[in-house]
Formats: sequence, structure tokens, C-alpha cells
Amino acid sequence: MNDPILMIRNIESFYGPIQAIRGVSLDVLEGQIVSILGANGAGKTTLMKTVSGVMDPEKGRINLNGKDIQGLEPHEVVQRGIVHVPEGREVFPLMTVDENLTLGAYTISDKSLIERDRELVFHYFPVLKARRQQEAGTLSGGQQQMLAIGRGLMASPKIMLLDEPSLGLSPILVQEIFGILRRLNDEQKMTMVLVEQNANAALELAHHGYVMELGRIVMDGSAEDLMKSEDIQNFYLGVQEEGARENRRWKRKKTWR
Ligand SMILES: Nc1ncnc2c1ncn2[C@@H]1O[C@H](COP(=O)(O)OP(=O)(O)OP(=O)(O)O)[C@@H](O)[C@H]1O
Ligand SMILES: [Mg+2]
Repeated sequence: MNDPILMIRNIESFYGPIQAIRGVSLDVLEGQIVSILGANGAGKTTLMKTVSGVMDPEKGRINLNGKDIQGLEPHEVVQRGIVHVPEGREVFPLMTVDENLTLGAYTISDKSLIERDRELVFHYFPVLKARRQQEAGTLSGGQQQMLAIGRGLMASPKIMLLDEPSLGLSPILVQEIFGILRRLNDEQKMTMVLVEQNANAALELAHHGYVMELGRIVMDGSAEDLMKSEDIQNFYLGVQEEGARENRRWKRKKTWR
């Protein structure tokens, strides 16, 4: 359970002349949920794209189960067992739920494995089973996020990279989806890297956390320790609390009028 399944060492990634990742190293232990926190523009998505082969790092190593995978094509990374559920739940809107799920299994030729994984997805997301013939573009935001995660599961991954699954969802839906992620981790032993700005929810779910700022890791620790850390409280959690207070103030003002 506790061997590093994924080791990232001194990764540097660029968009043309712009350096977005400045020497990032991190470990993901098998069976763990590791959360990557950080403000807008910190480089979280770029790091996920670099791991999944969408971008190649200029420098550094990405090692999965003892083998270097940096520089591989995205489909090769999927075949090795890493699936990326991208930011912004990119489902194919004109295709049905079922067709979207089938696309997630594009690297798998064994039909019985594909059907087994589809049943697994329906077990965790029964709403997708009920709507399997519906066009994905007509699903609610939360259902589309579930479909994006389900499509990732169809690749039979060892590791899921989840980029801000809570984005734009109500707190109740975030709880529901994070509850399913926890069950996938508990019951299927799914290893996860969870990128989040929602630090509270992410640290409640994760075992370990890393904090990114301007392309670097500036802090890491057990989720429990990070939750107690004053820097995290003041900055990441504090900002959200302040936002929530502002929101409440604003609501009160609204009722006065
Ligand atoms: N296609 C691109 N071309 C040039 N620069 C980019 C591109 N995509 C991202 N960047 C830059 O790289 C940096 C890291 O962006 P990235 O999207 O990885 O941040 P992030 O932590 O995922 O932010 P967010 O929380 O807003 O999703 C930012 O400064 C951003 O402006
Ligand atoms: Mg991002």
C-alpha cells in the first residue's frame, strides 16, 4: 500500500518562453489521495498536463512504478495506468452518456473488461445509468462532472488525476462527488491526485497535500498537518472564509433593502 507509485522529480514546463513549472518534485504513495492546492495561475493544471503527456517537460523525470514516462504520448500514459480528468468537465455534448463512457475506454480492446468497467461506473454513479441514452450536453453541471470522472474510470486506471472537480458546483454536490471519490479510494484502492482551490474539502478527503505558488511547491505535509497550519488557514482557508463572510454580509444587506 505504501510504496510511491508516482515520483515526480524537478519538472520544468514551458508555454513557449513562459515557464509555468519551476522544478516541481512530489511523491504519490499507492492507495493515497494527494491534493495539490494553490491559487489561480499557480501551475496546477500545467503540472497535470505534464504528467498526462499532453505537455512534455523541458526537464525532469516522471516515474510510474519504476519506469520513466515523461515524453510519452497521452494515450501511452493512459495505457500505463494514469488517467486525467481535465478541468472544466469536457464531455462530448452531442454524444450520449454511454457513448462518452465508451470513448473513455479507447485504449482497451477487451470488450468484457469495458462492460465490467461500465457497470463499475454505474455502481458509483447510478444517475448515469438512468441517463445513459441522454445527450451529455443536456446533463446538469454536477452530472457532467460525474460523467467526466466515469469516463476516466473506463480506462481502468491505477491513478486518477482530477483537475478541480468541485469547480462551479454547489457545496452539496461537492460533498456528494467527494464522497464518491472517497469510496473509490476505499473500495477500489484508487490512487488519486486531486487538484483543488477548495482547500477545506480537498484536505478533508486527502491523505497528503502539496501547496503550489508560481510554479513551485512551497509547502507539503499530511492533510491533517496542513489543515492545522497557520499559513494555510490564513491564506487558503482564510481567503475562502473571508469570501463567505463577504457573501453573508452582502446577503444581509440585500434583505435590509
Ligand atoms: N496555453 C498557455 N499559454 C501560455 N501560458 C499559459 C497557458 N496556459 C497556462 N499558462 C500560464 O501558466 C501559468 C500556470 O497556469 P495553470 O493553468 O497551470 O494554473 P492553475 O494553477 O491550474 O490555475 P487555475 O486555478 O486558475 O486553474 C499561468 O501563469 C498561466 O497564465
Ligand atoms: Mg487549473
